[in-house]
Formats: sequence, C-alpha cells, structure tokens
Amino acid sequence: MGEYYHTKESVEEYIHLAKDVNGRQLINQLEQVLPKKSTLLEIGSGPGTDWNILNKIYTVTGSDNSAKFIDHLTSNNPNGEFLELDAVTLNTDKKYDGIFSNKVMHHLTDDQLTGSIKRQHEILNDKGVLCHSFWKGEGTEIFKGMFVNYHLEEEIRKFFEPLFEILFLDSYAEFDAGDSILLIGRKN
Ligand SMILES: C[S@@+](CC[C@H](N)C(=O)[O-])C[C@H]1O[C@@H](n2cnc3c(N)ncnc32)[C@H](O)[C@@H]1O
Repeated sequence: MGEYYHTKESVEEYIHLAKDVNGRQLINQLEQVLPKKSTLLEIGSGPGTDWNILNKIYTVTGSDNSAKFIDHLTSNNPNGEFLELDAVTLNTDKKYDGIFSNKVMHHLTDDQLTGSIKRQHEILNDKGVLCHSFWKGEGTEIFKGMFVNYHLEEEIRKFFEPLFEILFLDSYAEFDAGDSILLIGRKN
C-alpha cells in the first residue's frame, strides 16, 4: 500500500485538489435503479463529497481503508456511520441494498478486483445493486506512489458479468471526453 491517502499531508492535498469534483451524475443514474432510503455502502469515501450527496438520499455507510480519511469523515459528520474497510476484503457482517464507489476500484490489481467483486456479491442483499466508476484506458501506472489500473468497458463487463446483470456500462467525461467508465449492475 502506498503512502498517498495515508498521511495527513496527502489527505489535505487531495481534499484541496478534489474540492470541485463530485459524483452527482453517477448518483443520478444510481437513483434510477436503487430506491430512496435503501441501505448503501460507499467504498473509499475519502473526503466525503459523494457521501454527503448519498446521505441525503440513502441510508448510507461510508468507508475507506485510510484511517486518516475515516478520522476526517467522522469529525466532519459526527452523526454519520463510517467503517475502516478495505475494498478487497470488505470485512463486515452487515448486508446492504447497494454498493457505490467513485474512482476507487482502479487502485486494485486484476486479482484484487476479482476478489472484491466476489465479496461485494456476498454482502449485497438479494437483487442488490452496485455502482462503480473507473478511469478508462489500458495498462497500469504508478501515480503519486499509488497503483492505478486502467480498464476498457469490455474488460469491466468480463469482471462483473459472472455475478452481476449489467444494467448500465458506458463511458463519460470526468475531465475529458470518455476518460471514465460507469458501471451499474444487479446481483444475480
Ligand atoms: C478518489 S478518492 C474517492 C473520493 C470520493 N468518491 C469522494 O466523493 O470524495 C479514492 C479513495 O479511495 C480510497 N481507497 C484507495 N484504495 C482503497 C482500498 N483498497 N480500499 C478502500 N479504500 C481505498 C482512498 O483512501 C481514497 O479515499
């Protein structure tokens, strides 16, 4: 695990860099298939920008594998529920109606992603829904000391379709046309 996202300095830097970015358009799509007030686990809540939007719609639990981000989330949202969870092991006994992440799963290797998808299937209720965004592209790189795994739509389909019905899979623009992919799937 790299240091970025795990030191006070990098967490403060990331909060500043990401202050104008949010997942509103992804959450609009999620709302088409996951009813309001459903229970939802967010993986990699980070600064909590998406958590704040989700919290107004769903019964949301935030999570992150960075203790620094969990401290930040807890002190900014004293009434919120936050768990220190890794995206691969998802070590929780609770089950959810939905799972959401925005630009988190690209930190996993292919094998880790396969393991995470299996765990997500286990912790979703029947017909549960997932919604994840990815950076679109090919290959891997180390960015600010962090592993980044790029994907194309067809790869994402192959990872998820053994366990999930693909409801939506398309590219969208975070910064530039087609730089990102959104997946929405339903547990088989
Ligand atoms: C791009 S930020 C997410 C921002 C978030 N969507 C928001 O609204 O502010 C990525 C987050 O994923 C977390 N992360 C990275 N690898 C992770 C892993 N293996 N398990 C859980 N969280 C992870 C990082 O600590 C960071 O908080």
